[in-house]
Amino acid sequence: MWSAVLALSWSVESFREAARAALRAGIAPECIEWLADGQGGLLALPDVRDAPVLHPSPRVPRAFLGIAETVLCHRDPQRHALLYRLLWRIAHGEPHVLATPTDADMRRAMQLAQEVRRDAHKMKAFVRFREVPGDHDNFIAWFEPSHHILQRVAPFFARRFAGMRWAILTPEASAIWDGEALSFGPGGTPADAPDFDAGEELWRTYYAHIFNPARLNPRMMTQEMPQRYWKHLPEAHLLPSLIQGAGMRVREMAEREHAAPKRRIPAPPLVLPSEDIRREESLAALRNAAQGCRACPLWEPATQTVFGEGPEDARVLLLGEQPGDMEDLSGRPFVGPAGKLLDRALADLGIDRAQLYLTNAVKHFRFERRGKFRLHRNPEPSHVQACRSWLAGEIERVRPQVIVCLGGTAALAVFGNGFRLMEQRGTWQTLHDGTRAFATVHPAWILRQPADRQQEAYANWLDDLRLLLTLPAGNAAIPHR
Ligand code: URA
Repeated sequence: MWSAVLALSWSVESFREAARAALRAGIAPECIEWLADGQGGLLALPDVRDAPVLHPSPRVPRAFLGIAETVLCHRDPQRHALLYRLLWRIAHGEPHVLATPTDADMRRAMQLAQEVRRDAHKMKAFVRFREVPGDHDNFIAWFEPSHHILQRVAPFFARRFAGMRWAILTPEASAIWDGEALSFGPGGTPADAPDFDAGEELWRTYYAHIFNPARLNPRMMTQEMPQRYWKHLPEAHLLPSLIQGAGMRVREMAEREHAAPKRRIPAPPLVLPSEDIRREESLAALRNAAQGCRACPLWEPATQTVFGEGPEDARVLLLGEQPGDMEDLSGRPFVGPAGKLLDRALADLGIDRAQLYLTNAVKHFRFERRGKFRLHRNPEPSHVQACRSWLAGEIERVRPQVIVCLGGTAALAVFGNGFRLMEQRGTWQTLHDGTRAFATVHPAWILRQPADRQQEAYANWLDDLRLLLTLPAGNAAIPHR
């Protein structure tokens, strides 16, 4: 038996150094006791770094390092053993284990990574700085993350609040930004942070104004903003009274709204997609038939049906929401601004767009006219439902190995309405027929982020899309079968 003692349990460098020494010495996973954060073992075991070198340094796939970086931030004491076991298996005849979502070790690693990402997301959303009394432009926030994520998330705050001095205190460490450089120090207590900020009163007034009672969904709200974070949030004190008054405010709003005029022009007979599309018909026949679709009212104001495009034997099917203005005019998916961002992401990942099949959950552009502009409107679930058989027809004919859902509408079409995009993004799912799929945000969502958050949103999006590079048998170019 050997021990691997890590000075910092979450540090990739510490883990990498010990894991490399163990692999070079040929020490099997079950022969290592991983000890971190000053933890002592029961037995005095020799350290793996002192083991004799018997093998050359192993090649570690980049995808593994990406996973390890995230998993190491988790508090699970078994995570080092889990990561080393994965590494050992990669080096001993199982190079595809990272791309096997059904593998028990891989499933556990993805679950830990997901919990860390969710914790980081909550930290970005719920840290609240308070000004230090008497020290203008110096702010302190107290926060209690569930995992070791401070070092991972602090650069986000450094970019976002570059112009002020701040510190984030957590029980085990602190991050300090002096306006120029980020440094880390020891942990603190809630008493080290100011407990009131005059600016909060203003923030509460603003929050009460923008609170829309018609959009109140208490279940979603507590899911997105779990109660354990409420103590950090000045607006949380307002929530009980805002929620209580929501019903009355909605009734008042409804009384104020005038009824929409009734449509008088009779709708033409429907061409239901499944009626005349027999299974043996080709993708081209399906595309032709879709041009006459009248299964929902979206066909009428739209210019044309925008069907999917790409090789019929593509390994990857990328699913968007619905065509936008430019797609509606050109008849091709993803040619407008969101499509340009998608092209950039694919280029950054070394993936050739021409090898993918691109399509949308809804095939007609839904918009609202404002003067000469046509503004995008989200499709309703009924529109997704009406288009379902076109999409099913495309999937049936292309038979992709992987489906990537871009945004909530695509995820709804593929996974149904129990799917939580922001929690489950970037994780492999398996559909009932064995097809693998994952969802991530839509490129248009990234374009809608405030300028100071776009870069990070884009980087996180790339991280999700990078899953495509873990496909077995060729990655970057994603060649045809
Ligand atoms: N957004 C989509 O979801 N699909 C497109 O084709 C264009 C923009």
